[in-house]
Amino acid sequence: MILSVENVHKTFEGTEVLKGVSLCVDKGDVVSLIGPSGAGKTTLLRCINFLESADSGTMEFAGRKYDMHNTHTKEKAEVRKRTGFVFQNFNLFRNKSALENVMEGLVVVRKKDRKEAEDIAFATLSKVGISTSLASHYPSELSGGQQQRVAIARAIASNPEIVYFDEPTSALDPELAAEVISIMKMLADEGMTMLVVTHSMELARSVSKQVVFLDHGVVIERGNADEFFSNPKEARVRDFLSLERV
Ligand SMILES: Nc1ncnc2c1ncn2[C@@H]1O[C@H](COP(=O)(O)OP(=O)(O)O)[C@@H](O)[C@H]1O
Ligand SMILES: [Mg+2]
Repeated sequence: MILSVENVHKTFEGTEVLKGVSLCVDKGDVVSLIGPSGAGKTTLLRCINFLESADSGTMEFAGRKYDMHNTHTKEKAEVRKRTGFVFQNFNLFRNKSALENVMEGLVVVRKKDRKEAEDIAFATLSKVGISTSLASHYPSELSGGQQQRVAIARAIASNPEIVYFDEPTSALDPELAAEVISIMKMLADEGMTMLVVTHSMELARSVSKQVVFLDHGVVIERGNADEFFSNPKEARVRDFLSLERV
């Protein structure tokens, strides 16, 4: 097990959006976190990577325990150094090329020299299908699918132990989403550990081994992906899946 979070609570302006959520991710596993809008999926992911502070909860990551409410800046940095995060809207630096976007963390956080960072960045971009000639392009000169693939390259360039994805395909039309899904499938097949928030049942089905269904800040059902999709136990989940298929 690489990640385990237990009993995470979070309240925004008097509304409890996470009501004691627990989940764990084994090394090499891909876990999809699905559920309706407003369920708390993004909030959970952000709390796990300390982009948001949980009100309470504990986390075990790579063998170390963390209090998710009282986390020192040093601890946050230590965890983030070993994780990657991919956002719905890519969050690339607009004024940096694809290559520079991938190099940034390697140089600034990892303290690699520029030459080594550049070599790693080129190799990682090539892995996600961004050619050397595209690497000098700025985000505005790339399609959404290409931008998201650059963002994935940025997230995986430092060999993180887990990569978090928040709706990585929902800003993309189906053709470009398919590009991103195929890259994620390749990473999953290579044994990359991932926790993926998604509305795309196609993505959830094609990449994940485990599925966690969240609704109103509570885990309603969880299980093996094949079983979950073929034979969901909870009526709430069956309703959700039947609507998503339309
Ligand atoms: N920064 C915030 N301030 C206030 N309310 C928030 C904030 N972030 C999320 N929420 C609320 O928390 C609930 C869960 O949101 P979110 O985690 O984004 O759900 P999901 O990703 O499942 O759609 C929603 O009702 C949302 O409006
Ligand atoms: Mg969300």
